[in-house]
Amino acid sequence: MENQIKKIVFITGSSGFIGYHLAMFFLSNDWKVVGLDALTDYYDVKLKKARQKNLCENSNFHNYEGFIQDTKILNKIFLDHKPNIVIHLAAQAGVRYSIENPMSYVETNLLGTFQILEIARKYKPEHLLMASTSSVYGSNKDYPLHENQKCDTPISFYAATKLSNEAMAHSYSHLYEIPVTMFRFFTVYGPWGRPDMALFKFTKNIFLGEPIDVYNRGNMLRDFTYVEDLVKAIFLLTSKEPKKINERKEIIKNDNISAVAPFRVVNIGNSNPINLLDFIKELENILGKEAKKNFLSMQDGDIEKTHSDINLLISLTGFEPKTNIHEGIRQFVKWYKSYY
Ligand SMILES: NC(=O)c1ccc[n+]([C@@H]2O[C@H](COP(=O)([O-])OP(=O)(O)OC[C@H]3O[C@@H](n4cnc5c(N)ncnc54)[C@H](O)[C@@H]3O)[C@@H](O)[C@H]2O)c1
Repeated sequence: MENQIKKIVFITGSSGFIGYHLAMFFLSNDWKVVGLDALTDYYDVKLKKARQKNLCENSNFHNYEGFIQDTKILNKIFLDHKPNIVIHLAAQAGVRYSIENPMSYVETNLLGTFQILEIARKYKPEHLLMASTSSVYGSNKDYPLHENQKCDTPISFYAATKLSNEAMAHSYSHLYEIPVTMFRFFTVYGPWGRPDMALFKFTKNIFLGEPIDVYNRGNMLRDFTYVEDLVKAIFLLTSKEPKKINERKEIIKNDNISAVAPFRVVNIGNSNPINLLDFIKELENILGKEAKKNFLSMQDGDIEKTHSDINLLISLTGFEPKTNIHEGIRQFVKWYKSYY
């Protein structure tokens, strides 16, 4: 007997790295998933198509190809499916590329996110959840990075657009009473990962016997978050919509809920920063091959250390991401070998 569909979630960026895993997670929990992705050529489109193909094998997945800036397609999705929950992940990601091509960040992250807010204003989903990033902490050095810290020193244009998204969403949440959760993700990695990110580039070059670029001479700490932990956290947060002001009963420990809107920000990280050279060592051990290292200076727009405070995530969901880098990298390498 077929399982009963629970609810309907609309995921933007569903053929992306995180969107793909998230859609799979919802499908395995008997949700109907509506996905939208423009399959942009920022990185290998074949990889995005392969993720999309896997999703389309599930009859509860409804695929749309197009841009989030396109109001026609957004209206069609809402009229056809009436999603309960919207999870907005589509973005022009990447810190370094925002120096080369800032306009693509304006188009997708600013204009596109504006259209997502507009469609939410029109159709009023139960909960709108959107991706922000640890990069919004900019030059903050008060570790672990906590959602209540002031964030007003973005050092890349990518971070600036994501910080703008948080402000835009807060105003819509206030004006139209849309419950909004903003996630700040900390360096996500795992199978089906992004070719522009370090783990993918390191693995590829080590296999080919080519040198890997190690920025700031390896003197960096990253709070690496395994993708399966991340999607589980997102799934659990879906039912934790920030309450409207007159409906608030309980006080949640470590909360940063807005005083004037059903809006909060939640870090999703591992809360365990790893030195970049230790991360590379772990990868070398798993691959059984040493990397040729090209030690370079710090890149523009980059941050030396990230470390998430995840007490709010734990208070809200009871869940704590725990996958260690040995297991996470092992899973990535297993996928990389089978895929390539
Ligand atoms: N991966 C990380 O470590 C990380 C860290 C912090 C924040 N984030 C955020 O999480 C979200 C998902 O990131 P990801 O790693 O899966 O990136 P990704 O690039 O793999 O996924 C984004 C997807 O959005 C699609 N897209 C881009 N512009 C679009 C547009 N205008 N209309 C429709 N689709 C469009 C792309 O084709 C892509 O498939 C992004 O918002 C990103 O900024 C990711």
